[in-house]
Amino acid sequence: MFEVVVYFCSMANTEDQFKRVISHAKEYGYVFQSSDIYDGLSAVYDYAQNGVELKKNIRDYWWKAMVQLNDNIVGIDSAIFMHPTTWKASGHVDAFNDPLIDNKDSKKRYRADVLVEDYCLKIEAKINKEVLKATKRFGENFNKEEFLATNQRVLAYQEKINSILKRLGQSLEKEDLHDVKQLIEELDISDPLSGSKNWTDVKQFNLMFGTKLGASSDSAMDLFLRPETAQGIFVNFSNIQKTGRMKIPFGIAQTGKAFRNEIVARQFIFRMREFEQMEMQFFIKPGTQQHWYQYWKEARMKWHLSLGMQPENYRFHDHEKLAHYADAASDIEFDFPFGFKELEGIHSRTDFDLKAHEEFSGKKLQFFDHEENKSYVPYVLETSIGLDRMFLAVFSKALQVEELENNTTRTVLKLPAVLAPTKAAVFPLIKRDGLPELARGIVDELKWDFNVIYDEKDAVGKRYRRQDAVGTPFCITVDHETLENNTVTIRQRDSMSQKRVNVKDLKAIISEEVDVKHWLKKI
Ligand code: GAP
Repeated sequence: MFEVVVYFCSMANTEDQFKRVISHAKEYGYVFQSSDIYDGLSAVYDYAQNGVELKKNIRDYWWKAMVQLNDNIVGIDSAIFMHPTTWKASGHVDAFNDPLIDNKDSKKRYRADVLVEDYCLKIEAKINKEVLKATKRFGENFNKEEFLATNQRVLAYQEKINSILKRLGQSLEKEDLHDVKQLIEELDISDPLSGSKNWTDVKQFNLMFGTKLGASSDSAMDLFLRPETAQGIFVNFSNIQKTGRMKIPFGIAQTGKAFRNEIVARQFIFRMREFEQMEMQFFIKPGTQQHWYQYWKEARMKWHLSLGMQPENYRFHDHEKLAHYADAASDIEFDFPFGFKELEGIHSRTDFDLKAHEEFSGKKLQFFDHEENKSYVPYVLETSIGLDRMFLAVFSKALQVEELENNTTRTVLKLPAVLAPTKAAVFPLIKRDGLPELARGIVDELKWDFNVIYDEKDAVGKRYRRQDAVGTPFCITVDHETLENNTVTIRQRDSMSQKRVNVKDLKAIISEEVDVKHWLKKI
């Protein structure tokens, strides 16, 4: 059969592509709406048989890079329920708010800052349009960087974006919600659904979910579901430092669920109400935060790039508006199907958290520095990435449509092989002559090292397509020659190239492509 790629139709950053990502995730057993049979629960999702493997592989890839490969970083798994004072100390009770605005006509509620940011994205789209026009006009001679730096129209657009975002950042920082509303009115922003400009005032809304601990309603204690995993690390700082005999600088990492009552939650698994974070708090000597801030920005970007997705998919966005705990912060943004958005945050958190927990708990959270012969409250550098967001980043970039030589297309999920849920599918060419037994024997051998599956349904070409769509990096076909010389055909998902190899070499061939070591060594 023909399997030659003629050209690759990269799917543009469109709403269509995003819809396609969502339906592909459902069709191929990656992500389902939670409680689907009851018509779902908004912004809550379940990971299906393939999704759970992809998610686990991303989590492992992060854990290996952060914990296993750094002898000064250890992991923990703290509880979701925490003493309620934790959230008073962390500032979440008073300051973990979103600025919301309602439209009086449509009765829809929006995040005021997101309305302004979306307005800026529209201006950014105009810049991209200018770039596209110029690319067509100048062809090979086009220099994008020079164009962006000199074209007057582009510069004016960029200047407008900068000044809007600066004002938004300043108003939010000063809690000047009146000015945020004024900005929305000055920019003539309308309700994206109804077009109405009839807005209420902007108000703050706390994002934490409350719950109760205890049997009777009178004695029950009010608790919150944790909105970040970080506080579980801070409250364990002393326990870990002492029992692990950790010396500064050192880190504590954890992955786990976090909960936020997101108001604007309609971007699939990008913004969920129940999601998973992978966070690392790095405890450092006060005064060294600039060094470690740069260090972790670079280290985390290298981790992303090690997965082989193109560098132009990532950019840093340094914050104008800092969270209540930070003295510097930057996001690693990713080019999602709906444009560049935050994927990971790198925050210089100062000694805010440990100091606050000292104050509220009355316990010392300090480190005795033998070199300096004194105790101090360490500063903290945090890296915080959403596992679900990383899933969406990887999944949406991997989903591609290719046109083949025989005028057909194939849908292929080019997941980095290290992350793919299933590493190989084994097929008997036909369902007789002892080929199924041989194929099952190969599955039984390989399954000790990799997730592998057996498939005998339909013609081999159709089975290839099925595995391409689900993202399996290798297909192994057992045929009559296997009976004679113990060789099989192994086909590579991305290149579709096939070669004949001995069954005993399969493990080494697959390992070469899927082993974490092979990928993380690029860091
Ligand atoms: N401890 C710091 C912290 O939680 P954050 O910027 O609020 O910082 C960190 O969150 C990361 O968690 C984000 O970069 C994003 O990847 C992920 N995240 C935050 N809210 C999310 C949500 N509602 N749904 C999915 N992921 C979310």
